Amino acid sequence: MAGISKTNEGNNIGGPLANKIALVTGGGRGIGRAIAMKLAELGAGVAICGRDSDKLRATADALRGLTERAFWQTADVTRADEVGELVSATEAKLGPVGILVNNAGIGLFGPAHDKSEEEWDRVLSTNLKSVFLVSRAVVPSMIQQGRGDIINISSLAGKNTFAGGGLYCASKWGVQGLSGCMAEDLRGHGIRVSVICPGSVATEFSGRGSKDQRKALQAEDVAHAVEAVVTQRAGSFMSEIHVRPLRKA
Ligand SMILES: NC(=O)c1ccc[n+]([C@@H]2O[C@H](COP(=O)([O-])OP(=O)(O)OC[C@H]3O[C@@H](n4cnc5c(N)ncnc54)[C@H](OP(=O)(O)O)[C@@H]3O)[C@@H](O)[C@H]2O)c1
Repeated sequence: MAGISKTNEGNNIGGPLANKIALVTGGGRGIGRAIAMKLAELGAGVAICGRDSDKLRATADALRGLTERAFWQTADVTRADEVGELVSATEAKLGPVGILVNNAGIGLFGPAHDKSEEEWDRVLSTNLKSVFLVSRAVVPSMIQQGRGDIINISSLAGKNTFAGGGLYCASKWGVQGLSGCMAEDLRGHGIRVSVICPGSVATEFSGRGSKDQRKALQAEDVAHAVEAVVTQRAGSFMSEIHVRPLRKA
């Protein structure tokens, strides 16, 4: 399923990202939704994907208050065919993607030795393989444009280890490695690859539970880090940002 916004009154025509098209995976809710809203507020045209069409439609409605150029399409980021269709449709509706935010992800916790092969595949495909698939689909047009921003939403779990974190940490450590290598592969083409590592964020994420959500980060804190990355002066880039709540839970 897919949808494109209609022209609005009172939306943001200017802004530092006025000439940019952004694609945010998992943009229907949580951190991805906050990032999509922030990018639209900064003037970008914004495409979002996920599997839940109701959530995507609702977020696209909200985006319409900020931009004339909003597009949503259901796509499972673990599937190369759906990713290819998503990127083709986004480029046909809005134009070449200049900002990609690989945000879609799931949490699944508990000792690795208790997990099934299906659970391993689900976590690694959603959190890591998707970054490879979606990036691979947008990079050719970024190379053609001679510029682009790819921002991978990792986690402080991509820098640390903890009991019960086996599958999730493996996926996010993988995102760290992939991001660093992509940054080296693409910097010569004018494409900046960054990784953002948030601590615990108050969303519906199937996280590790029991932490005091009032002391967690807000999705908007991560969106603010994305804003910093995409508005960084040309000629330099922020390769890795750690985002922590001020007060510890
Ligand atoms: N919340 C935290 O504490 C925290 C901390 C550090 C890092 N992160 C990372 O931040 C990112 C977003 O997390 P969140 O807290 O916003 O989680 P969330 O509220 O559970 O949202 C997850 C998003 O990912 C999408 N998604 C999941 N599987 C997908 C698939 N196969 N194909 C397409 N979209 C898929 C979901 O969309 P659908 O349901 O529509 O498919 C949803 O939009 C994740 O990468 C997560 O690892 C989260």
